[in-house]
Amino acid sequence: MAKLADWLRLVVLAGVAAVLAVPSFQAAAGVGLPKLERGKGEKCVEDTQFMRRNHMELLKHQRDDTMRKGIRTTKHSLKGCVECHAGSQSGSVAAGKDDFCMACHVYTGTRLDCWDCHATKPGRKPARVADPGQAAASPQMPSPKNGGGQ
Ligand code: HEC
Ligand code: HEC
Ligand code: HEC
Repeated sequence: MAKLADWLRLVVLAGVAAVLAVPSFQAAAGVGLPKLERGKGEKCVEDTQFMRRNHMELLKHQRDDTMRKGIRTTKHSLKGCVECHAGSQSGSVAAGKDDFCMACHVYTGTRLDCWDCHATKPGRKPARVADPGQAAASPQMPSPKNGGGQ
């Protein structure tokens, strides 16, 4: 009987330790890891783990293909990301620091200029083409606006 009671106490202690380990891990990592809203649908366009690490490469290649070679596929389109990842509150991927495309980037200190031209909310709107005076401007052109807004 005493043995069973000891064993049960161990189990409870282990459970408490596991619960405490989570916040202390976050504290060690900084202010707390970003909390992301789950995307729409069953799954992402690629494996989730792959997306966490490589989405920037996908988007760049996709853009290079579209802009330079005139190839247009939709699998990794930015429009797709926005359609599935716009926040249920804001309706946007980048209106506030909790929105999907902002949360991690705020955390890592990354600033995107994409939203100067691309819509942050779902819709049919194509990216804004630079006005004639800036026709030759590169999409990577630095901009005074920050990554949020719109
Ligand atoms: C100066 C304006 C401008 C900026 C800034 C810009 N783009 Fe674009 N982008 C365009 C235009 C114009 C197109 C072609 C029209 C279209 O496909 O909607 C395009 C097309 C794309 C496409 C292919 C179409 C799609 O919806 O997937 C991707 C992907 C893309 N851009 C990603 C990005 C990313 C990521 C950033 C930020 C790092 C960015 N763009 C910044 C203007 C811009
Ligand atoms: C058809 C809807 C859909 C599209 C389109 C989509 N996603 Fe996702 N995405 C999801 C879902 C659902 C998840 C969560 C999957 C899971 O939990 O395993 C996810 C997960 C992610 C994650 C990991 C989030 C986390 O919790 O760590 C990233 C990063 C991501 N997507 C980026 C993108 C980018 C960038 C694009 C555009 C190239 C995109 N997604 C397009 C539905 C989508
Ligand atoms: C799970 C966290 C996470 C989410 C969610 C996320 N990103 Fe990222 N993103 C990163 C990290 C980490 C980097 C690399 C940071 C760096 O190198 O400065 C990055 C970098 C990028 C870059 C390259 C920036 C540069 O200057 O080279 C682009 C473009 C980008 N993300 C687009 C997006 C878009 C669009 C979304 C929303 C659909 C999104 N990301 C959502 C974590 C995330």
